[in-house]
Amino acid sequence: MNAPTGAAPPAVLLELDGVRKRYNVGLPNEAEVLHGVSLRIDRGEFVALIGPSGSGKSTLLNIVGLLERMTAGRYRIDGVEVSGLDDAALTLRRRSTLGFIFQFHHLLPAFSALENVTLPALMREGRITPAQRERARAVLAAVGLGGAMNKRPGELSGGMQQRVAIARALVLEPPLVLADEPTGNLDTVSANEVFALMRQMHAELKTSFLVVTHDPRLAARCDRVIELVDGRLVHDGPAAGPAR
Ligand SMILES: Nc1ncnc2c1ncn2[C@@H]1O[C@H](COP(=O)(O)OP(=O)(O)OP(=O)(O)O)[C@@H](O)[C@H]1O
Ligand SMILES: [Mg+2]
Repeated sequence: MNAPTGAAPPAVLLELDGVRKRYNVGLPNEAEVLHGVSLRIDRGEFVALIGPSGSGKSTLLNIVGLLERMTAGRYRIDGVEVSGLDDAALTLRRRSTLGFIFQFHHLLPAFSALENVTLPALMREGRITPAQRERARAVLAAVGLGGAMNKRPGELSGGMQQRVAIARALVLEPPLVLADEPTGNLDTVSANEVFALMRQMHAELKTSFLVVTHDPRLAARCDRVIELVDGRLVHDGPAAGPAR
């Protein structure tokens, strides 16, 4: 539920405690891929999630993003323990709390950039108000696409497509944005620009970010780095990188 007017929200945005994930439960190929992950993220943090391929980064992100259920453990986000929620409640919570950016933009190809950015409002409320359309225009302008709002994804470069995806993730101003290798499909210059844009939006909106990246230079530009190896958290501390 919403905090009373005037009260600051609690600093803790999400907390995982002993989270385990097993795939193919009951089958011969059953495998546990997260072995008791505990983690806390506060409001406004910008966190990198790194680790080798197959270490469980996307699995963890999908659990945090309420796209996948954990097998055991506890997970609270925005004050709510999620293990007790049914699928409908999970969906509502996901729409109110989270924005997503993936490696491949997942924009709808038949829709313009502007239409893609108004989709979260349509999904959450079943309609798009004029104010929401204005807000989508403003966010697209903020990500540098003021002149490309009516273009379809296929008419935009990879970097521009990811900018649309960032605008879509942020348009409803969720407290947390999850990004799974958001620059993994981009050349170095575009990757740097897209990352800088995420940092800029973070500075402006105070949204928390949890960003999976394989790129140590990008991880070093986050505030905090957590590292998964073989489904276990092996490091959690400030990024030791150069100034952003
Ligand atoms: N739906 C699934 N069913 C069965 N096993 C899965 C499933 N999804 C992931 N896995 C397994 O879980 C482990 C962790 O996978 P995950 O995709 O989370 O790793 P990752 O760290 O994101 O890797 P990458 O860096 O390559 O994206 C891997 O061994 C993978 O094969
Ligand atoms: Mg992955």
